[in-house]
Amino acid sequence: MSATARKKAPMPADIRAQKGGRPLVSLTAYTTPMAQMMDAHCDFVLVGDSVGMVLHGLPSTLEVTMDMMILHGRAVARGLSSAMMVIDMPFGSYEESPQQAFASAARLMRETGAGAVKLEGGQHMAPTIEFLVQRGIPVMAHIGLTPQSINTLGGYTVQGRGEQADLIMADARAVAAAGAFAVVLEKVPQTLADRITADVAIPTIGIGASAGCDGQILVVDDMLGLFTAFRAKFVKRYATLGEAGAAAIAAYAEDVRARRFPGPEHVFADEQPEKRAGS
Ligand code: KIV
Repeated sequence: MSATARKKAPMPADIRAQKGGRPLVSLTAYTTPMAQMMDAHCDFVLVGDSVGMVLHGLPSTLEVTMDMMILHGRAVARGLSSAMMVIDMPFGSYEESPQQAFASAARLMRETGAGAVKLEGGQHMAPTIEFLVQRGIPVMAHIGLTPQSINTLGGYTVQGRGEQADLIMADARAVAAAGAFAVVLEKVPQTLADRITADVAIPTIGIGASAGCDGQILVVDDMLGLFTAFRAKFVKRYATLGEAGAAAIAAYAEDVRARRFPGPEHVFADEQPEKRAGS
């Protein structure tokens, strides 16, 4: 579905205009049914490269490819009509040069209908953000813990404690000045997130940051309890669908082994009784 067909969806400029207003609501999505479930409740939906870990069982986001993002992006687009879709640029698709970033971002938007791309990095990515924005590609920045850099960061640790706070603040200012329409703050201390939110003119979207951010995002499989390999401190679980699903599958297995399933209501008679939908 093209971005123009989704008439009610906000544009990046609308998201930006919500700075300091009603908190922005966002979740990740990777499939059509999930996107449909959250469409009416979210301002924007992110096709996150977290898809590699939560749906494909990969150990990090580093192995996620453009083709994977496009496949999932197209699925999510089919489930959205009123939320804007943002899509992550996968590791290796944008860091080399602004030109490489433009080619990748253009392909992601053209082939999925996403309204914007998200990329990780602060000061060093500012020239790339500016290059993209000047050429018609709205960019959401992502600073603090940037999971595509775990090998240089040394793990999934809190970013911006102590003297490091000035660096994260400089990152926020740089991406805002470069023209990003919003910035994700991941796993930074609450007071720093509040200071950045007060300092920059674009909305801050927190994940492990602060309730004072201009919006919040969570990985949907985390908050629904579907991804249980580990649980970050910043995840609030609103459901335990993983447990409910495992119990349902166990009940099905028992029914099959005891020949309780299928029951009489699930099988077909020789004669057609009366015309009913599904019979
Ligand atoms: O890939 C992702 O899911 C993300 C969010 C957690 C911000 O980048």
